[in-house]
Amino acid sequence: MSNATSQRKYVYRGDPIIEAPPAELGAILERHLGERDALITALEEVQRHYGYLGQDHLRYVARTLGFPLARVFGVATFYNLFVFDPPGKYQVRVCRGTACHVNHSGAILDHLCDRLSIAVDETTPDGRFTLQTVACMGACSLAPVVVVNEETLGRMTPTAAWEALQALDGDETTVRDASATQNG
Ligand code: FES
Repeated sequence: MSNATSQRKYVYRGDPIIEAPPAELGAILERHLGERDALITALEEVQRHYGYLGQDHLRYVARTLGFPLARVFGVATFYNLFVFDPPGKYQVRVCRGTACHVNHSGAILDHLCDRLSIAVDETTPDGRFTLQTVACMGACSLAPVVVVNEETLGRMTPTAAWEALQALDGDETTVRDASATQNG
């Protein structure tokens, strides 16, 4: 590495969050000002809003709520409910609760991993799909269940689930329920 390159690498770039947080993030954090036991709750709310915890989100949490940055990073990385990469356009969640498990949701998960060429909790390189599992979606009578963004697809099969993803019509949240075709 040339001297010039190594010098550039260590140039002080100033405070990365010198600006105030975005309004929506500021509103979330403001609700927890002065609450010393609200760190996890605040992180959950930030993730619910953005879909993930970015590095600057964590910095704003630390600064605004008065926690050491190391503690905020430590808490966020300790709990596996937190994710640090932006989710794909379509969040695909395969239910692995008991009712879905006995109705072969594992085969659905394996098939989607195979067709998307990703593992659980990964996002396809084109940013379209993030594949996750959930414990129970509260729709056990429809088992096995796959949820795409906010839409619940019931009585899925590996083929039907894959067809549902392929049938995404460009709408951000709507998928065609391939089981309707398959079952009827
Ligand atoms: S176990 Fe899958 S919805 Fe309840």
